[in-house]
Amino acid sequence: MSDAGNTLWHGRFADGPADALMALSVSLSFDQRLAPEDVEGSRAHVTMLAEVGILTDDERNAILAALDTVAAELADETFTFVASDEDIHTAVERRVTELAGAAGAKIHTGRSRNDQVATDLRLWTRRAARSCAAALHELQAVLLARAEEAGERVSLPGYTHLQHAQPVLLAHHLLAHLWALGRDVERWQRVATAADVSPLGAGALAGSSLPLDPDRTAELLGFSARFENSLDAVSDRDFVAEAVFAAALAQVHLSRIGEEIVLWSSTEFGFVRLSDAYATGSSMMPQKKNPDVAELVRGKAGRVIGDLAGLLATLKGLPLAYNRDLQEDKEPLFDAVDTLLASGHALAGLIAGVEFDTSAMAAGAANPYLGATDLAEYLVRQGTPFRDAHAIVGELVRRALDGEASLMHLVAAEPRLGPDAAVLLAPGAAVANRTTPGGGGPTPLRAQIDAARASLQRDAQWLTD
Ligand code: ARG
Repeated sequence: MSDAGNTLWHGRFADGPADALMALSVSLSFDQRLAPEDVEGSRAHVTMLAEVGILTDDERNAILAALDTVAAELADETFTFVASDEDIHTAVERRVTELAGAAGAKIHTGRSRNDQVATDLRLWTRRAARSCAAALHELQAVLLARAEEAGERVSLPGYTHLQHAQPVLLAHHLLAHLWALGRDVERWQRVATAADVSPLGAGALAGSSLPLDPDRTAELLGFSARFENSLDAVSDRDFVAEAVFAAALAQVHLSRIGEEIVLWSSTEFGFVRLSDAYATGSSMMPQKKNPDVAELVRGKAGRVIGDLAGLLATLKGLPLAYNRDLQEDKEPLFDAVDTLLASGHALAGLIAGVEFDTSAMAAGAANPYLGATDLAEYLVRQGTPFRDAHAIVGELVRRALDGEASLMHLVAAEPRLGPDAAVLLAPGAAVANRTTPGGGGPTPLRAQIDAARASLQRDAQWLTD
């Protein structure tokens, strides 16, 4: 049992907290990373307190100086935590009081750890949203660069059900992932907006009898608005849930890229060769080169989905207003953001350095069966209803697969098709003929690349604003 005199609430308590209570209760190991935000929020709070006449200018200056010292100690890791520092808020207040004495003991005037932690977390999330958007944007830029490099020359089989379907340009395939990531970047922009409301001034749950000015602290902290309802302000973790969802969906998108790298780097596909820097060997099998980065990115989607499920379960059924359960919001948030950032950076490096085997891709894309739909569409242009055209071509495919003759031969010999139609099966024809807007051929690719560049440009603007 520790000394009751060390706790923030010691007046009411004759005995100190049990060691078992502290072991369960302490959050310092993970909420330490809110230290910069805690100092920032405290600076704004103290500045406001002086402006409304609750602190004298001298008191404010003493506290601000102490906060500067705390910030410096935390930054250069000379800050000494003590056993009674339950969380980062407790630690900062204790140290400020040590440094600034009686003035320091006024720092928590009109404030609760409930509005304090919500403020810190909103500041943190707003920043994290930018980092996540930036990491995804970086990966988009790599995909765009690789797509531009592959250009209109390189095609590969496009798949549905992981079966050869129709050929598409490699650039088109790479850009499909770019657009999914673009929606993630937009989602992170919305997360930044969701976090952009100041809860400071809500107190423990009901505001204060002191003449606090929550609009002023909101302004000092660069928030666009303050809370409208103090009960909601201290208990709302929607912005955390939205952030973890944004991370989970982005990680799901990364996992799909990861899965394709795993498949494409297999001997069976042979579409990519990994650079040494982004591959791993085997401790036993000397010949191996493994796509562990891609596998980890894929695997970690499960982890981030777990962060989201765990967080929502924590929030479910919580009565108003603050409940200590809410301390459980931080680890999933931090984990989801850390995981996404690490995955995004690693995948960007991997894709930047991957070597595409364009001849293996071209060999797959040259499979004449991938032009079957184009044969049916040829018949449609001659006036045949699509369903009938589908059946005519389907029968030729079946006969070719049964070994009667090559599909090319059968098409050339078929009176309704003939040699004009057979050329549609030649390598490169099907991809060249995909001309509709947003489609997989060279003509729409030019517009798509322009649109992708413009989209990245807009997001780059947001990231630097
Ligand atoms: N460490 C706490 C958290 O993360 C801070 C708020 C504590 N509030 C309280 N009433 N015990 O939620």
